[in-house]
Amino acid sequence: MEERRLGPVVGLGTWNTFGGDAALAEEVVSAALDQGYRLFDSSPMYGGAEASLGAALRARRDGVRVATKIWTSSTDAGREQFRRQLEWFGSVEVEQIHNLAGWREHLPWLERERDAGRVGQIGVTHYSPRAFDELASALRTGRFDIVQVPLNPHERESERELLPLAEELGVKVIVMRPLGEGSLLRGSPPADALSDLGVDSWPEALLKWALSDPRVDVVIPATRNADHARKNARAGEPPWFGSEERRLVERLAA
Ligand SMILES: NC(=O)c1ccc[n+]([C@@H]2O[C@H](COP(=O)([O-])OP(=O)(O)OC[C@H]3O[C@@H](n4cnc5c(N)ncnc54)[C@H](OP(=O)(O)O)[C@@H]3O)[C@@H](O)[C@H]2O)c1
Repeated sequence: MEERRLGPVVGLGTWNTFGGDAALAEEVVSAALDQGYRLFDSSPMYGGAEASLGAALRARRDGVRVATKIWTSSTDAGREQFRRQLEWFGSVEVEQIHNLAGWREHLPWLERERDAGRVGQIGVTHYSPRAFDELASALRTGRFDIVQVPLNPHERESERELLPLAEELGVKVIVMRPLGEGSLLRGSPPADALSDLGVDSWPEALLKWALSDPRVDVVIPATRNADHARKNARAGEPPWFGSEERRLVERLAA
């Protein structure tokens, strides 16, 4: 297995998880914080998840990066989403333009917020390869710090242009759907295959597969299960997979 210099990180996704259920958010987020998670991804699209995430983080906000999104093509509505986020989170470490919605309109005011210190870094996301050309154009403006794209053994389109471009431009990469929205977990490979990989579970192998690509900085598996959050954290520990282990994961996922 190879060692690598950049510190890859497991974060927590919040789509389709606790929504507005503050008690469940508290349980999952505390388990994640106890395991050392330091990045939490959300969006106004995730049905109350931002509010419950904000409440769950309130007492333990130091050192945590909130990566949320602006999800609207209207500048006024985007500013209103940001105003609510400041109430929930105090500041936003990573503000991403969700699904490229209104990205040209949002960039100038987000840059002013970054200059004023209320936003840390600016990112842009899209889940669909059909939008990857536009995502690449957005990155080529040089105005984004972060891009969020899907990457797992069944969804590798981002490897073609976006990951090389992100590397060239020094843009950080957050990986959404590292478990294929759970579709990659329907069967688990035999225990001896997992022990060959040095992991305890199949989700851990898949998360480590993505984090072992040196162009990837963060994976954000979503879960509504505190125990799953604890187990997924193990994927953020070295040693990283080399090409042989990555190919084995790809064969096991085929
Ligand atoms: N999907 C998108 O199009 C999209 C778009 C933009 C951004 N994102 C961001 O990326 C995040 C991650 O993507 P995702 O939510 O689509 O899918 P994902 O993280 O690939 O998969 C989530 C699924 O995996 C299951 N899971 C997680 N850990 C597990 C474990 N250790 N054992 C068994 N099952 C486990 C979860 O179920 P349990 O609750 O039972 O653990 C859930 O059903 C989102 O939450 C969001 O923050 C997603």
